[in-house]
Amino acid sequence: MNVIDTGSGLPMVLLHAFPVDSRMWDGVRSDLAANVRVITPDQRGLGWTPLPRDGRPPSLNDVAADVIAMLDQLGLERVVLGGCSMGGYVAMAILRFARRRVAGLILSDTKVGADSVEQVVNRLSVAERAETEGSKGWLAENMVPNLLGDTSLAERPGAVNVLHALIEEQPAAGVSWAQRAMAVRRDATEVLRNTAIPALVMVGEQDKITPIAEAERLTDTLPYGELTVLPRVGHLPAFEDPRTFTDTVMRWLSRFARKG
Ligand code: MLT
Repeated sequence: MNVIDTGSGLPMVLLHAFPVDSRMWDGVRSDLAANVRVITPDQRGLGWTPLPRDGRPPSLNDVAADVIAMLDQLGLERVVLGGCSMGGYVAMAILRFARRRVAGLILSDTKVGADSVEQVVNRLSVAERAETEGSKGWLAENMVPNLLGDTSLAERPGAVNVLHALIEEQPAAGVSWAQRAMAVRRDATEVLRNTAIPALVMVGEQDKITPIAEAERLTDTLPYGELTVLPRVGHLPAFEDPRTFTDTVMRWLSRFARKG
């Protein structure tokens, strides 16, 4: 697994969204690492982490197992676990299998429910298209306008270009595998109900993929969940407005550290 591990102190693992890689955290990594140890892996099939050729059907449970194996390798018993969107789904799978490894939870722009039939059909058609045509061109064209908030689309041309390039670099096999894995993930309501640890839920106020109502549902499901709506960003707040994301995490962490 390709991992960037920087900073020292309290270990925080951040899991990236689809269809990008750990570079989505580039804007927040060094400011967070001034305070905590920040560990950002590329999840299998994306970035520089290869897709294992083990013939197993795609499942985010295997991504969760990769992350748990990474924690073992780094000798980390407990971490603050964060995930954005697909990274949040992986974080929920980790809670299902290894809850005691998670001391605190950060969920950005993700949701607790499984997919509707329509969403599954859509995922499978994206997976098939990536398998037959590759993922160059169409994937970034279709996804950038949905991933970024309207403010970023209008006022942050740098973010638009970097995100476009990041999506273009993802291997088609990893794109298709991730879509198939997300399509079969389970509802995590029971898992989150039993997650009695501090949990920060964030959502961009302009998120079109997992809107504020999804974040409210997540927060209500978590015994110690608290919600922050981030202004002027969409589905990728850490990427679109790194400063506000970092400040929100650090404020929450300082309260978390005082309690813990
Ligand atoms: C993501 O940002 O990871 C995806 O939008 C998640 C999804 O497709 O459900």
